[in-house]
Amino acid sequence: MRIDLVTIFPEYFAALDISLLGKARRTGLLDVHVHDLRDWTHDRHRTVDDTPYGGGPGMVMKPEPWGEALDAIVPPHRSDPPRLIIPTPSGRPFTQALAASYAAEPWLVVACGRYEGIDYRVVEDARTRMPVDEVSLGDFVLAGGEVAALVMIEAIGRLLPGVLGNAASVTDDSFAPGAMETFLEGPVYTKPPVWRERPVPDILLSGHHGAIARWRRDEALRRTARYRPDLLGRLAPEDLDERDRTV
Ligand code: ADE
Repeated sequence: MRIDLVTIFPEYFAALDISLLGKARRTGLLDVHVHDLRDWTHDRHRTVDDTPYGGGPGMVMKPEPWGEALDAIVPPHRSDPPRLIIPTPSGRPFTQALAASYAAEPWLVVACGRYEGIDYRVVEDARTRMPVDEVSLGDFVLAGGEVAALVMIEAIGRLLPGVLGNAASVTDDSFAPGAMETFLEGPVYTKPPVWRERPVPDILLSGHHGAIARWRRDEALRRTARYRPDLLGRLAPEDLDERDRTV
């Protein structure tokens, strides 16, 4: 997969050299290109923002550098354009399902806005020649799109075939489509069997795989009820068995 990032802070994306995604880049599974938006300015101060029409606080990103940047990265009239992702708190929610659908695409461009956002004509103009998604990480406001882009790229990158050593860890995740959909994962333990006088739950040492699976499901249900009761509300009746109802 190819990902082009446009930002006024390319340094943020040094994190993409590290760990899982760093390895994915070095092995060619992930091809990331980071672009400095200011390379498409033409004034001495390399200006990317201006005051908002209609008044109000803060600054808005000027359309001209964005238009030139997107034209340079995605030459007009390409028959197979990338999907343009714009992180913004006013976008559609980013979910595991959206991460999985992005992981199936060959080319993404992420436009990282700062300040109060990007002049909306940039979005409208881009939509005439590529699919555009405005995407939000959640109901909070970050200082800009860079950290949101990093979060999305990590969620997408670990789903690319060959990036994770153990493919099962993708399907067991909280929110993974399939068995665990709409459940939060319960607690996990490793050696030693007793630490600071706290033993690991006996059942996990029992070797009874059926009982362990049941215990894990109970814990997942309890945790989901505690932290995300909204998720339980979304379950279909057939998603719960007799025992679930007693947890
Ligand atoms: N930029 C600023 N806040 C954001 C959020 N919550 N999600 C995505 N991009 C953002």
